[in-house]
Amino acid sequence: MGAHQGVRIFVSGAGRGIGAALARRFAAEGARVAVNDLDSDAAKSVADETGGVALPGDAAGEDGVAGLIAQAEAALGGGIDIYCANAGVPTGGGPDAPEADWALAWDVNVMAHVRAARVLLPGWLERGEGRFVATVSAAGLLTMVGAAPYSVTKHGALAFAEWLSLTYRHRGIHVHAVCPQGVRTDMLAGTGETGQLVLAPTAIEPEQVADAVLDGIADERFLILPHAEVAAYYGARAADPDRWLDGMNKLQRKLEGR
Ligand SMILES: NC(=O)c1ccc[n+]([C@@H]2O[C@H](COP(=O)([O-])OP(=O)(O)OC[C@H]3O[C@@H](n4cnc5c(N)ncnc54)[C@H](O)[C@@H]3O)[C@@H](O)[C@H]2O)c1
Repeated sequence: MGAHQGVRIFVSGAGRGIGAALARRFAAEGARVAVNDLDSDAAKSVADETGGVALPGDAAGEDGVAGLIAQAEAALGGGIDIYCANAGVPTGGGPDAPEADWALAWDVNVMAHVRAARVLLPGWLERGEGRFVATVSAAGLLTMVGAAPYSVTKHGALAFAEWLSLTYRHRGIHVHAVCPQGVRTDMLAGTGETGQLVLAPTAIEPEQVADAVLDGIADERFLILPHAEVAAYYGARAADPDRWLDGMNKLQRKLEGR
């Protein structure tokens, strides 16, 4: 019997990358997984492989989220036990990024989590149990050079996860914020030179993120750091913000010089 035998789990953005690794790892532990992705072929392929249920669709918009959760509950035969808000978009640029890019980042990286929690909380509070796993990013604790929409919205996702945890932890709601640095997925491959310089050297495999998530759940840890060194960076940023900003600016100038 696996540690998640019979547990009903929803993973958004699970057609590839970190979400697919989470779906595979949970399924290997006996869970019944609803595999969501905008890419229906990818969702179907991971669902077939894991014995799960494919739920293609947009896990960010208000109607989409509610509909997907209802479909998952029907297909899995009951309320969702663990919701993994994993889908994300790596929007780059600064204030000059188009309004539509900022809006998409806000929708997928933050509001998708808010909307899922809105649907799930009433049932979870009634049962006195529920688990919300937010794939945030180290960019939510620190920043990502060259990507203001991504950094800002990942900070938002972390703030929302913290708020959920502190508000409901005495009522059986468990919340985790997963904050990796680089992970070898299509997303990282698409971040170009900045990603190659900043993230690729210490990048890990999606399976290592999934292992860290399972460990974090077993230990009931809010903050899950697949790259352990991020804890020290987070501490240094809090202790001396100007020193940290000088260091990040050095990185920015290095990128500009290339
Ligand atoms: N790869 C990294 O280096 C890295 C580092 C830190 C955090 N993250 C975060 O991990 C999460 C997963 O990223 P990944 O690297 O596996 O990316 P990925 O691009 O490999 O996979 C993301 C999947 O999400 C799907 N998706 C996007 N928007 C969706 C939506 N609205 N509804 C349903 N599915 C949607 C995509 O179709 C894609 O299959 C993201 O939240 C990302 O920000 C990634």
